[in-house]
Amino acid sequence: MSVKVVVGAQWGDEGKGKVTDLLAEQADVVVRYQGGNNAGHTVVVGGDEYKLHLIPSGILHPDTLCIMADGTVIDPEGLASELEGLLARGISCDNLRVSGNAHVIMPYHRLLDELQETARGAGSIGTTRCGIGPVYTDKTARKPLPVRMWDLLDKDALRERVEGQLAQKNIILQALYDAEPLELEAVVEQVWQHAETISDHICDTRALLYEKLEAGADIVLEGAQGTFLDLDYGTYPFVTSSHPIAGGACLGTGIGPTMIDAVVIVTKAYSTRVGAGPFPTELDSEIGDLIRDRGQEYGTTTGRPRRCGWLDGVALRASARINGATVIALMLLDVLDIFETINICTAYEIGGKNYSMMPANVELLSEAKPVFEEMPGWGCDLGATTDYDDLPQVTRDYISLIEEVAGTPVGLISVGPSRAQTIRRAEI
Ligand code: GDP
Ligand code: IMO
Ligand code: MG
Repeated sequence: MSVKVVVGAQWGDEGKGKVTDLLAEQADVVVRYQGGNNAGHTVVVGGDEYKLHLIPSGILHPDTLCIMADGTVIDPEGLASELEGLLARGISCDNLRVSGNAHVIMPYHRLLDELQETARGAGSIGTTRCGIGPVYTDKTARKPLPVRMWDLLDKDALRERVEGQLAQKNIILQALYDAEPLELEAVVEQVWQHAETISDHICDTRALLYEKLEAGADIVLEGAQGTFLDLDYGTYPFVTSSHPIAGGACLGTGIGPTMIDAVVIVTKAYSTRVGAGPFPTELDSEIGDLIRDRGQEYGTTTGRPRRCGWLDGVALRASARINGATVIALMLLDVLDIFETINICTAYEIGGKNYSMMPANVELLSEAKPVFEEMPGWGCDLGATTDYDDLPQVTRDYISLIEEVAGTPVGLISVGPSRAQTIRRAEI
């Protein structure tokens, strides 16, 4: 039996989908533990690319059980269209189980996300407008009782919840945003039309997971977003509303911390961020544009261009600590193939003082200037390398520096989107 957590080490889009798919090959169960369809996880198999938003990235392995756990938030329309899209491509989703306790993203959550972001104007967070903030807000508010996946099994229960919610939401929509109130039956129908597609998958996933644990299953817990988008440990308020960090895997699945054997933090060989918020190593320059171009750094979910910069080693070190990382998966190394020199940020300079640790105060972080260590580039195509010893010495030096800075070994190196473009150094 083993339980491994796959966590984004940065600001999301690090390649968690690829890593999860690779680990799923040996796993019995893959579990998404938080977030919703704000995520976009890409898996490339042969020439086929799959963009998964909600369904765990183990789904392409027909014998792997895939679970969306209690900590996730689910948009029924998004889930139904993802299920139908996969089925149309010949991928069976019979192995998908969805927690009845997961909260449902309702049409009013999406609408509120949109209205709130617009009202924030220049100070907007840059959310995906999928309704993530509003649904987690309702979850923590507890009453009136929000809609959960169980309610998609009983139309009367669904109507009762929606009625309770609209009594408040309609006041907010009209008074704060001068928007039209929503009509009860219309909202119920909007959601209920997807119930049939989804209902067979809904169950008690806690019980199922305990059963699998007791049977000695190998389990992968797949995070969405990344460490610095965590509600508590991210660059608040420019964060998401859930807990992507490894601790969030315990919260989201009900698996206790002592049952976790390995924590894989997934990082790019450089940094990106989509949406607003501090990003010390951001390159507003031709180099940044080149990274964006080579890495195809455009959001999987929203299509927005991602902000790009050199690898932030200070942030990676913090990430290794927050997540209790046992190993690093280093992704998109091939994107750096063409650079003559490569930089890695090993400290911040803030107000004339050097910081080797990431300051908790986001105001300070916003003022951080990166202190870079410059390395020579390798100037060759790594895309076909499958053996660590075949990497150029300068590439191995870059990897060693990353390990030193993060205090964590690099166990997997990715040099292209496909499964085969992977160098495994250790069992992860
Ligand atoms: P996730 O959200 O963490 O799963 O990451 P995304 O799927 O949003 O973004 C990662 C992107 O990089 C996807 O388009 C992947 O297909 C791609 N990718 C993953 N690993 C590599 C790699 O090693 N090299 C290159 N060039 N692309 C990669
Ligand atoms: P994956 O799982 C990158 C960002 C948004 C915004 C902030 C809050 O593919 O790595 P939200 O809609 O969650 O309220 O937006 O978080 N964000 C992501 N950035 N990858 C993601 O997911 C993200 N999910 C949310 O851009 O800055
Ligand atoms: Mg993504």
